[in-house]
Amino acid sequence: MYKFVIEGGIPLKGEVVISGSKNAALPILCSSILSDGICRFANIPRLKDIDTIFKLLGILGVEAEMDDENHEVTMDPSGIKAFEAPYELVKSMRASILILGPLLARYKRAKVSLPGGCAIGVRPIDLHLKGLAKMGADIDVSHGYVLAKTSGLKGDRIIFNKPTVGGTENIMMAATLAKGITIIEGAAREPEIKDLADALNGMGARIEGAGESTIAIEGVDNLSGVEHRVIPDRIEAGTFMAAAAITKGLVEIRGVRLDHMAAVVEKLEEMGVRIMKSGEASVYVDGSGKLGPIDVETAPYPGFPTDMQAQIMALACVAGGASSITENIFENRFMHVPELMRMGARLEEKGNTVFVRGIDRFQGASVMATDLRASASLVLAGLNARGRTELRRIYHLERGYEDIDRKLKTLGANIERQVGGI
Ligand code: EPZ
Repeated sequence: MYKFVIEGGIPLKGEVVISGSKNAALPILCSSILSDGICRFANIPRLKDIDTIFKLLGILGVEAEMDDENHEVTMDPSGIKAFEAPYELVKSMRASILILGPLLARYKRAKVSLPGGCAIGVRPIDLHLKGLAKMGADIDVSHGYVLAKTSGLKGDRIIFNKPTVGGTENIMMAATLAKGITIIEGAAREPEIKDLADALNGMGARIEGAGESTIAIEGVDNLSGVEHRVIPDRIEAGTFMAAAAITKGLVEIRGVRLDHMAAVVEKLEEMGVRIMKSGEASVYVDGSGKLGPIDVETAPYPGFPTDMQAQIMALACVAGGASSITENIFENRFMHVPELMRMGARLEEKGNTVFVRGIDRFQGASVMATDLRASASLVLAGLNARGRTELRRIYHLERGYEDIDRKLKTLGANIERQVGGI
């Protein structure tokens, strides 16, 4: 087990390069199952979750050759001979469920462990299963597994009563090889869905409207190989913007898609953070000004992303005045609250809203990471804090942030990875 030891109070300065998007890469890697040819993907982040999906795809028979140096991977799906995702892997990463649609579409069968809940909520997959059943899959859920088979998927109209990122991705992938046309209504609009559609269309799929709430997919007989570069990670970029702000630093963030970050940029600017384009895909973030309070409600894209909720809460803790943070997507995504309070934050949880009263600075303390984005908020608090912060169980962080300690060190942070801290 490893921990981070952070001495806070250093304004971050310099430039940082954002890695590829975890939440675009995961479905795109699964989409290789649909292909008849070799798939080459660039800008793949080096993360624990990416290792997990490679392991899972390897069990199915997909060969993945990762070039760590260049963040590129070559996938050869021609050797697929198994169609089961075991509990051990799925329980460690829910996104494993994204092999369900592709396996059903290409091989007409799949056995995938139910993901089970995770720290932030129950996270059911009922919408995924209902959509696939409507397209002609026989779905049986027993002994903790989804058993699915079909004589051949058929296009249909799938209506989601609430946006689901994974559900939209599973149905969209399944529909690429289904007979006829599939219309998804109430689709999630996240940029990662558009990126997946771009990769699939590169393989010869016929998808229109990805990124909007209605997506049309005309099924084709087969998909070829593809070369595709994954979009940058908008949540990592948002986390580094918050890091510049919480340390009163001046940081250039490179390799960002500002058009994917409008809601986050708007809220940070409202707090008094200055964000200025400094190039085609880079921004300057100036956190030297005084931070004011903010009211945030998380919502499906293009609203404020739930994956930035913990990070902007940490920032609001050391902004002046009174702020409120409302979580509308997941039912248990406030586990960072008690840990931030151990560092001196003044927070009051009432239902799905946390009321914040600003303090001057955090106090360093020993804290525990509980889930990916909660851990990020504790790193932010430690960077701001008076004194030393020890963050335990940093494996949560390593699921979604590539080399975060190295990147922060290049910006001048005093952060060390050390053994210990159960
Ligand atoms: C994706 O999870 C992301 N993960 C999450 O990022 C992100 O927080 C989430 O979308 C919302 O933006 C990946 O892309 C790998 P959903 P996903 O289906 O697809 C409910 C991170 O930190 N729901 O959009 O699982 C669900 O319970 C992770 O990088 C159903 O009720 O999210 C939730 O309340 C965390 N039935 C809401 O919908 C279903 O069948 C949104 O979930 C599916 C979802």
